[in-house]
Amino acid sequence: MTSLEIAKWIHLLAAAVWTGGLIVLGFLVGAVRKATNDRGVLQAIARRFGVVSWTAMGVALATGLWMFFERRLTADRFQLKWTLVGIAIAVALVHQLTARKSSPAVRGALQGVIMLVSIGIFAAAVTLF
Ligand code: HEM
Repeated sequence: MTSLEIAKWIHLLAAAVWTGGLIVLGFLVGAVRKATNDRGVLQAIARRFGVVSWTAMGVALATGLWMFFERRLTADRFQLKWTLVGIAIAVALVHQLTARKSSPAVRGALQGVIMLVSIGIFAAAVTLF
């Protein structure tokens, strides 16, 4: 394996963890809310989820930028993908900072937006080359 192939492999794993995590969490939250009224359980899940998903995003950004510069690519065809990555990060930050005070409906809506935008990043990524 070349170093570029290793970077791509890690990039795809990190992208899968970020996006797949959001999809799985979307299914889990409803089940947890049905099983218990204890908000502490959801908060514990959210905290650990945050650590895993922000780590995955950091790894995707680092490996993505590394591949971009290593392959001497140009930014023109990356515009859609980078816009979507920026939106996903911005909405995830807003979601994280407001989650304590907002209602379950608002929290769910924001999580849904982040999930859809992240699925969109995959669509933009596979049309890059
Ligand atoms: C600054 C951020 C990012 C940069 C610069 C970047 C850059 C790249 C580059 C250069 C490739 C092509 C790899 C190759 O074919 O050798 C790629 C592929 C890919 N990226 Fe990213 N990426 C970033 C963030 C993300 C994120 C956040 C996700 C998903 C959540 C993602 C998902 C993908 C996917 C699915 C592919 C595979 C496309 C394919 O090979 O057909 N990327 N990325």
